[in-house]
Amino acid sequence: MEDKANNIRNFAILSHIDHGKSTLADRFLELTETISKNKMRPQFLDTMDLERERGITIKMQPVRMEYNFSGEKYILNLIDTPGHVDFSYEVSRSLAAVEGVVLLVDASKGIQAQTLANLELVQKQSLVIIPVVNKIDLAQAKIEETVQEVAILLKVEKEKIIKISAKFGTNVEQILEAIIKRIPEPPKENINNLFRALIFDSEYDSYKGIIVYIRVIDGEIKRGEQIELLAAKTEGEARELGYFKPEFFPQEKLSAGEIGYIATGVKKPGNVRVGDTIIKFNPAESGINIEPLPGYQEPQSVVFASLYPENPDQFDLLKEALKKLKLNDPSLFFEPETKEALGRGFRCGFLGTLHAEIISERLYREFGPNLVISPASVVYKVDGKLIYSAVDWPQSCGLTEELWASLEIITPTRYLGKVLEILKNFQGNYLNTEYIGSEKAILFYEVSLRAIIENLYDKIKSVSQGYASMSYKILGFRKGDLVKMEVLVAGEKKEALSKIVLRDQVFCQGKKLVEKLKEVLPSQQFSIALQAVVGGRIVARETIRARRKDVTGYLYGGDYTRKRKLLEKQKKGKKILKVKGKVIIPSKAYLEIFRG
Ligand code: GTP
Repeated sequence: MEDKANNIRNFAILSHIDHGKSTLADRFLELTETISKNKMRPQFLDTMDLERERGITIKMQPVRMEYNFSGEKYILNLIDTPGHVDFSYEVSRSLAAVEGVVLLVDASKGIQAQTLANLELVQKQSLVIIPVVNKIDLAQAKIEETVQEVAILLKVEKEKIIKISAKFGTNVEQILEAIIKRIPEPPKENINNLFRALIFDSEYDSYKGIIVYIRVIDGEIKRGEQIELLAAKTEGEARELGYFKPEFFPQEKLSAGEIGYIATGVKKPGNVRVGDTIIKFNPAESGINIEPLPGYQEPQSVVFASLYPENPDQFDLLKEALKKLKLNDPSLFFEPETKEALGRGFRCGFLGTLHAEIISERLYREFGPNLVISPASVVYKVDGKLIYSAVDWPQSCGLTEELWASLEIITPTRYLGKVLEILKNFQGNYLNTEYIGSEKAILFYEVSLRAIIENLYDKIKSVSQGYASMSYKILGFRKGDLVKMEVLVAGEKKEALSKIVLRDQVFCQGKKLVEKLKEVLPSQQFSIALQAVVGGRIVARETIRARRKDVTGYLYGGDYTRKRKLLEKQKKGKKILKVKGKVIIPSKAYLEIFRG
């Protein structure tokens, strides 16, 4: 059997959330015998606990497979990507490492918003698209309608669209064949063959130093060679390098066209940046001008939240944790901030509320500091000044402005009425409707970004039984009548929980917040008043009842005086607790409030 170096195909699988990317990757891993049957488990490439618990992909995951086709051996480098819009930076980074994509569409859902958003990314890079309709085994699958939709969207013949069941493996081999036949080999452009590779991902390893995930563009690199990161001007050494199987699989060298990793020996997280170009460090060749690769655009944070260590001594621990996490998720933005009410912490920027929630959860799980987390907020303008956190909202303000976004919602026409109703409640501006075929509509709307992060997506999904989906783009600032809502817990202001709301929504927003607090705060031995306050006025109130500890439990018989004495003592104790008694909100409760 021939084993040509040229027989490499690099591709990513893209789709809207839950259309079956990781399940299709499972079938590829089986067909190519990359993973033995006894080691296989569903959604094999979702390796993080958090991904498995939630059933969603958060991180891209590369894997190298070998496949024999028509008497030749092929190397297929697959990158499984997340489907949720908040992780689309993972998708766009994967695309710079591949020549083609498998675009998957669920036959029971048809085209959804993220399908369109992904398609836009793919078309910008002129990558080859292999359209696939999945879940044809489902009773509710509308196979022919979905094929028709995809054909219209991609302007391709229906025959080019492969119909599969990733769950049962039906027709999956046809995709492997299409990958080999339709996706081109990686180009070999470099004339002098000097080594250049693009860093598309990275992670921190306390033993090996920072590990970079690379696509080799030119030349080759061998184990032990000195390397340089062009933009960061960092030097390192290829202490270990190899492929993904999907676990690290050490090799002696990596060559042009391949996807792999290098353990760089670099320890400082700030010295490695995704999008940077790696070259060989060679003082003798320092005169040769090696062009950096195009790299990536910095993603724009949409949602902001402040993170503080519960214990002020853990500020440095939190800082290190954020730096290490940023290596693995470069879309995370953070900068130190100091607030009188909260101490030293970080203002963090995220690509959406799910992203913010996942990062907070990862910080807490992977690095351990207990956190105080403010509710997710968008950026506002007060009298022309940008305000990223409710803590900074001025006492008195003139013009208040908020960001608006253009919204595209794709929905089956049968849910149109219900979706429109939701949008009306969120005070959006209707623009236009377009149709894909006869059963699917695209609604064009404008709505405030604040509304989008207040669970608009979940509401649209729930009224349409999961069929409608949306994507949005930021438009700019518009006037809005906004006020700051503060929260008192047992009479004490919890500045981290303050949030900005529309003036005409203070009562319902206040009620929602105190009810949520009541649900998530652990009860104490004294009752706790929860109040939402706007401009010094209480707009909502709840009470968490005291958990009465039965201090008399061990007494038996009828000695009432002893019982009373103990109860009196307990009452006193409660007073002390209340006086001393700051109610500490645990990190878990902040995360729950964050989720809304
Ligand atoms: P994200 O990465 O989170 O966007 O999800 P995904 O696109 O990787 O989807 P995943 O593979 O996790 O599948 C989502 C759900 O669809 C799981 O419950 C799968 O078992 C199911 N599923 C995937 N493919 C098929 C299929 O061909 N038939 C049926 N019946 N179910 C499928």
